[in-house]
Order: sequence, then structure tokens, then C-alpha cells
Amino acid sequence: MLKMASNKILIRIFNSGHELRYSPTILRQGMPNKLSIIGAGNVGATVAQCCLFNNLGSVVLLDKDERIAKGKALDMCHAAALHEHRFSIKGTAEYADTAGSDVVIVTAGVARRPGMSRNDLLGINAKIVEEVTRAAVRHSPDAVLIIITNPLDIMCQVAWKASGLPPARIIGMSGLLDSSRMRYYIAEAAGVIPATVEGLVLGEHGDSMAVLTRLATIGGVPASKILDAEKLAEIRYRTAHGGGEIVDLLGYSAYYAPGSAAAEMAGAILSDSHSTYPCSVYLTGQYGVEGIFMCVPARLGARGVEGVIELDLTDNEKNQVATTVRNLRELLALLPA
Ligand code: APR
Repeated sequence: MLKMASNKILIRIFNSGHELRYSPTILRQGMPNKLSIIGAGNVGATVAQCCLFNNLGSVVLLDKDERIAKGKALDMCHAAALHEHRFSIKGTAEYADTAGSDVVIVTAGVARRPGMSRNDLLGINAKIVEEVTRAAVRHSPDAVLIIITNPLDIMCQVAWKASGLPPARIIGMSGLLDSSRMRYYIAEAAGVIPATVEGLVLGEHGDSMAVLTRLATIGGVPASKILDAEKLAEIRYRTAHGGGEIVDLLGYSAYYAPGSAAAEMAGAILSDSHSTYPCSVYLTGQYGVEGIFMCVPARLGARGVEGVIELDLTDNEKNQVATTVRNLRELLALLPA
């Protein structure tokens, strides 16, 4: 009886696109969480689906191609009963529909094809990210932005400039994905469940990232106690080139893991969890780096980046970070002033 009554309330609330949810964000604003995803391609649609699976809030999926956005949103609506979605999704090409978003996730852009590096996308994606960020922020000036479009760290810089927001509100989805790849490879080699493996990466979301297998743990035990140096070196290589491996297999870029990682970060922001994730954030001297976005462990909450955790690195790791910073600065120099 009680269950039926609450279901009725749920249906009524779902239809109006609203539901009470006990997160600090909701209690503060008296409104349900709202997420807007710009770009309804492979990555954008997967982010949307993960946000619905995780019941993070109502989702707006925007694409310049309205039919794609509407079609994918309707397809997800058709799965709502099966997955017990508690929030609505709307497909659109109108930025007005994104108004008042708590989190805006930018995936619009061109994805790489075999033989391309993420950096080959720089010119075209910079224009797209600039345009969509301006439009999204005009309607959601209080949002935290999660950037996924590649080359990721550079697109964070573009989005920051275009948005006029404090840099703490621009976060790149990079290291959570890369470290998740590393955790999988370690788990596979050790014969354990990936969720029991912890670890992180630093630097560029690209081939020069520093994959810190030295700090990885399996059930709290250093991975180096379980896997030999040769295996760990192989894992570092496969992690740094994990995206490329998928492009070679599929002919286009990854989206299941990127979508999952972005939804996880959005959840941390919306619930003001203060969780630490490796992600691309604006550095102001941490790790000896200033004025660029790069992946480091950062604490995330309702206002975006709350702080950066500085790790003691070996000389070799410091050299890797120096290489990655050099690469990023070279790429930044290619952006129009
Ligand atoms: N405004 C809105 N949407 C746009 C715009 C724009 N100006 N430009 C492109 N898009 C949309 C496209 O219409 C397309 O639906 O962005 C979507 C991109 O989708 P895909 O081509 O499937 O690319 P995807 O695999 O989702 O990758 C998107 O994420 O991981 C990164 O490297 C990847 O930069 C790429 C981005």
C-alpha cells in the first residue's frame, strides 16, 4: 500500500521532470539537480545514459543536430521504466532548454579516427568548444563545467577563456578515465576485481601522461608487490595508449568508459562529496606548474575544484611531468590568441 502510494508520487513527479533528492545541492536550492550535456554523439549520449542510471538529476541532451539529440533522448526515455530512472531527459538544439544547469558537460566536437592523435583535433574543436561554452554559460552562469572534448587539457583552457568563469569551475575529464584504464589492466594481470585496484595518473590526457603504477594498490597492497616490473611497464604503456587502441579497433574513439567517468565526476559535484579524482584542473604553481590545465589529483565539490593534492614524485616521474608540461605548452601556443 505504502509502496503504491509512493510510486504514484514518483510518477507524478517524474512526469513534471522533478523529484526530491537528498543531496546538499537540492537542499540548498530547493530544486532538483539539472545536468546539460552538449554534444549528443557517442560520448554525450553515453554520459546521459550513465547520469540517468545513477539518478543524478534531470538531463538535457543538446546537439546542433536536433534530430540526433531528440532521437537518443527518446530512446533513453523508452528505457526509463526498465532501469527505474527517476529523472527525465530532454533532447534539444536550443540552449534555452539548458538554462539553470548545475553541471554542463561539453562533448561537442570532432572525434579522432585511426592514425589521428588527439592533438590533430585542436583547431576545429577549439572553435566548437568556444562557441558551445559561451552559449551554455549564458544560460547557466552558476554551472560547473566538465570538459570531455579533445585535446582535453587544451579544450579546458579554451572553455575557461570563453566562459569567463573562475578556473575552479572548469574541470577536464581525463585522469579518472586514464586511471580507470590502468586499474583494469592491473586487475586483469593480478586476477582481481578492478574496483579493488586504486591508482592515478598525472599530466596530459595524451601519450605523454605519467602513469603512476608506483602508487597503485591492489586491496591496499602496493601493486609492485604482486606484479613484476616488466608487467607494470607494459601496463603503463597500454594505459597511456588505451584510447588509441580503441580507435584502432573501432575506427572511432571510446565512449563507454569516458561516459562512465564523466557521470562519476558529475555525481561528486552534485552531491558535494569532496571526493578526490585525477582530473584536469587549472594549476597555480602546484607541481611547479602555473597557468595551464593538467591532470592532478583534485578534490571536487559543489563549487568545482576545492583543492589540489600534491604528491612526492620520484625524479623519473618529475621528468615525465616536465615532458607533459612542455607538450601542453607547445599545443597551447598553436591556439589563436
Ligand atoms: N554544437 C553542438 N553540437 C555539436 C557542435 C556544435 N557546434 N559541433 C559538433 N557537435 C556534435 C555533433 O553533431 C556530434 O553529434 O558533437 C557530437 C560529437 O559526437 P561524435 O562525433 O560521436 O564524437 P564523440 O565520440 O562523442 O566524441 C566527442 O569527446 O572524447 C572526446 O575525442 C572525443 O573530442 C571528441 C568528443
